[in-house]
Amino acid sequence: EKVVLAYSGGLDTSIIIPWLKENYNAEIVAVCVDVGQDEDMSEVEVKAIKSGAAKAYIEDCKEEFVSEYIYKGIKAGAIYENKYLLGTSFARPLMAKKLVEVAHKEGAKYICHGCTGKGNDQVRFEVGIAAIDPSIKIIAPWRMWDIKSREDAIDYAKSKGVEVAATKEKIYSRDQNIFHISHEGGELENPENEHNPDDIYMMTTPLDKVKDKASYVEIYFEQGIPKKINDEEMSPVEIISYLNKIGGENGIGVIDLLENRLVGMKSRGVYETPGGTILFNAHKELEYLTLDRDTLQYKQIIAHKYSQLVYDGLWFSTLKESLDAFVDTTQKTVTGSVKLKLYKGNIMIAGMKSPFALYDESISSFGDSDMYDHKDAEGFINLFSLPFKIKSNMKAKSEVG
Ligand code: ARG
Ligand code: SIN
Repeated sequence: EKVVLAYSGGLDTSIIIPWLKENYNAEIVAVCVDVGQDEDMSEVEVKAIKSGAAKAYIEDCKEEFVSEYIYKGIKAGAIYENKYLLGTSFARPLMAKKLVEVAHKEGAKYICHGCTGKGNDQVRFEVGIAAIDPSIKIIAPWRMWDIKSREDAIDYAKSKGVEVAATKEKIYSRDQNIFHISHEGGELENPENEHNPDDIYMMTTPLDKVKDKASYVEIYFEQGIPKKINDEEMSPVEIISYLNKIGGENGIGVIDLLENRLVGMKSRGVYETPGGTILFNAHKELEYLTLDRDTLQYKQIIAHKYSQLVYDGLWFSTLKESLDAFVDTTQKTVTGSVKLKLYKGNIMIAGMKSPFALYDESISSFGDSDMYDHKDAEGFINLFSLPFKIKSNMKAKSEVG
């Protein structure tokens, strides 16, 4: 049997290779989807073959990841439980899509992944794959075998001659891409513990070590999509990389979250999303300038649902696609520049402009204008307060309180 394996190069997926060979007599096609994890991809390829894969694919999907997944999230304002920018959640459906593509190319009926049976990622992979090709069968070794801990995994690797760099020392479970890195496990599992920046951070300078001087950055959006930084046109990957650097240096974008997993439990995670946090905030400011009140507020309701769909792995759902269409309509005028000041973990607005601004200084300022007559307010307030007057009269006449 041919099995396509979602391969990361780490211990958790490397030990799957000998296990699949033993238990399925399988020929393994390892697929590493490059979404910007800080990893030497040629080494990952070599490692897959060394661990026993017959073939290895390295799929560079960084531009697609940013433009088709991250940017949709930014436009929608998707943020899970008011904190999490969904860095891992966005990557899974793209990976699912690439895995199915390779399975089709290779004529494989099985896809195998290295997610545990306690997390969200298993759901995201499997729902994504099912949505694209329901005939594909899933193998999820972490739900099947007796390997339960990191220690077990290392012992198993050694017994099968798989090279391990990992030590038995308890470290964090991490997931990285160009947008974010997540950290779970270890001492984070006890919510009484403060997270230790020096131990954890990989993209961000800890706040007690950031520089004393603020940085400024100006982002230009076209219909909700970032196009230029400080007047210079850049590709999606260049934009995120630039913002990660300047955000990281200023200690921007760390959250420490106790989140509700889809599978029912709460879990603690620390997330670094420096560039994404800057983009999210810049975009939000531009919407304050360019969207009318009803659209802006309704869009916030949509954003809440959107974040849940993404978190739950329902990327390929009809609802998610329909919400994208709604969002895109709102973005027609979300064009313009936002300047932000970054200082010691904070983001402050430092000026913005748009050809579609709905803010009109001549109307909003204290003086007189042609479009707004103070006297009109009186009639407006009379009608606006009419229901309250009626109710008050009713109360005075009746027994009910
Ligand atoms: N809890 C986050 C999420 O569900 C991060 C998951 C990280 N995944 C991992 N395999 N380490 O999106
Ligand atoms: C895992 O359990 O594989 C990682 C955590 C998650 O998916 O939520």
